[in-house]
Amino acid sequence: MINCKELFDNAIDRHATCAVKYEMLDELFGRHDLLPMWVADMDLPVMPEITEALARRLSHPVFGYSVPPESYWQAIIDWQRSRNGFEIRREEMLHVPGIVKGIAYAINYFTSVGDKAAIQPPVYHPFRNVTEANRRIVVENPLVETNDGYDMDLNHLEHIFASEHPRLIILCNPHNPIGICWPAATLRKVAALARQYGVVVVSDEIHGDLIHKGFHHTPFASVSDDAAAVSVTFGAPSKTFNVAGITGSWCVVKNPELREGFFSWMEANGFAEASLEAPIVAEAAYRHGAEWVDNLVEYIAANISELETLLHEGLPKARVIRPQASFLVWLDFRGLGLDHNTLIDRIVNHGHIALNDGAMFGSQGAGFMRINVGCPRCTVVEGARRLIEALR
Ligand SMILES: Cc1ncc(COP(=O)(O)O)c(C=O)c1O
Repeated sequence: MINCKELFDNAIDRHATCAVKYEMLDELFGRHDLLPMWVADMDLPVMPEITEALARRLSHPVFGYSVPPESYWQAIIDWQRSRNGFEIRREEMLHVPGIVKGIAYAINYFTSVGDKAAIQPPVYHPFRNVTEANRRIVVENPLVETNDGYDMDLNHLEHIFASEHPRLIILCNPHNPIGICWPAATLRKVAALARQYGVVVVSDEIHGDLIHKGFHHTPFASVSDDAAAVSVTFGAPSKTFNVAGITGSWCVVKNPELREGFFSWMEANGFAEASLEAPIVAEAAYRHGAEWVDNLVEYIAANISELETLLHEGLPKARVIRPQASFLVWLDFRGLGLDHNTLIDRIVNHGHIALNDGAMFGSQGAGFMRINVGCPRCTVVEGARRLIEALR
């Protein structure tokens, strides 16, 4: 096995690769001289087995229409069984060209214009954007702050199910931007309520493979019969293996009634067709990636610790909410007493660093920022230095 730490420590120049992280700086932040620690892809290299599998295919002279091989589906099934104890059957699965698209398809299929869909902010912003852009109405079940993080408000969830009658809820499991691995008991309760009130649960599990020590990912559909009956699950290798530019994800629906309707609608519209390269990348990732992911998670955890130490010393009034999953860290700057616009101005125009504005995940995110530490350690150190300089 290669020395991953050494590999991850090397800074990679991503200029001139059409990377959103760089190319969109001017448009979104008003300047380009920023250290980009925002959009959720990593500045870390792709596992060699993935690149080799792609290169093998690219050496063939014809790139015609293609169909995912059975070994692709089996690789997903095997990975989910061995990593999460999640049992999936082949007929329960469909290919989907990206998770945000998958969520949009589910909204379009399971709800009608004017229907309501529930989200739990602060949460990954496309949940709201996609719902509203499709002329559905968002109802919020905000997370509640606890002493050491956040929790789901199950009483309020029942209240909105009973009073607002949403047709669907979009669950972020694990939860971006805070990195929460939802406990099985919480998911079981969501499932029971969803079944009682006839709500479809769309579970976005894209961050489910990057789980920090002491926690584990619980696939929603696995927690109970209720959960299997009401859910549409989306997963992908894109965050875990840093292959988000090769859009490929998968969907699991356990309930035959939900599945038959949704899958035939997806197929009728050509939404389930895979590109030539996405299954190749996913299969190589899931077949060969277990040790790589373990090393990656260890590296990310050390990055989070480095950030915590540096900010604790340099900005003691800031709070780092340590994620249980993934490479995105939720930073609480409310203790600094700055209004939100001043906070952003200082970070962008004084610190010269691009983070995700906490308020983009919901109004509850004012005073917060999300930082991406899926990068070499030296970037984390430089990012912390800039933040301290901007906000001290
Ligand atoms: C929770 C969550 N879902 C979906 C996505 C994007 O998935 P895709 O690129 O497959 O649409 C992201 C990317 O950051 C995410 O954090």
